[in-house]
Amino acid sequence: MRVIVVKDPKEMGKRAAQLIVEDMKAHATYVLGLATGSTPLPLYNELIRLHKEEGLDFSTVITFNLDEYVGLAPDHPESYHYFMWENLFKHININPKLTHVPEGNIPYQTPEDIKKIQEVCDQYEQMIDDVGGIDYQVLGIGSNGHIGFNEPGSSLGSLTRIKTLSENTRKDNARFFDGNMDLVPQYAITMGIGTILKARKVVLLANGEGKAQAIKDALEGQVTAMCPASALQMHRYATFVIDEAAASKLTLETYEHG
Ligand code: PGA
Repeated sequence: MRVIVVKDPKEMGKRAAQLIVEDMKAHATYVLGLATGSTPLPLYNELIRLHKEEGLDFSTVITFNLDEYVGLAPDHPESYHYFMWENLFKHININPKLTHVPEGNIPYQTPEDIKKIQEVCDQYEQMIDDVGGIDYQVLGIGSNGHIGFNEPGSSLGSLTRIKTLSENTRKDNARFFDGNMDLVPQYAITMGIGTILKARKVVLLANGEGKAQAIKDALEGQVTAMCPASALQMHRYATFVIDEAAASKLTLETYEHG
């Protein structure tokens, strides 16, 4: 595991962009796994800057997002379809046809709905495999250690599927829904931990004290389904780029700084 501790979120975004762009430039076609939430925004801002100021080309890049809420239309301001368009896609020369976000705007009530959702999830997993897998997966981390919407207790070998969001996550995300937890969807479609582990490289970003315990558990704790991010200890090429506040509970002294 490579751990890079930087001074603030802006540096976190720049450092992560550097890792991804170096790798992107070494490959003719590229498959990028993307995340939502507030953490990846400094990374997306840096990618946008590199596109606008240095001509970084995204025209052939294929993207797959980690997750999407169930029951929100793609044009809902809190849907992850909308988030990606607003915060990254509309600012770069990406081909919309090469972008993928799980289709969450489908009913989830009857046994037929459940079957249909699982088919959608299986197709998503298959699409990733069909393009040869994800080259670099971007991850945030929940304060409970989740990655994607793989909540504590998720199988470490899980693939794309529907998950019930934990109370903790719905509370954390209520800030995006006028602070009203009742408006936060109860379910999401998410890549599984097994899907994430299949990516050739992963970079996990975290900033702020609120993530310090989850980072400590993920990096220095045991591999356990109770901290899904700890599964990254099993990955051959996982890098954590975290700010000093998120690193504040780590005890090993061997991490890179800067
Ligand atoms: P955040 O969410 O970036 O909004 O803190 C991270 C996550 O839940 O994965």
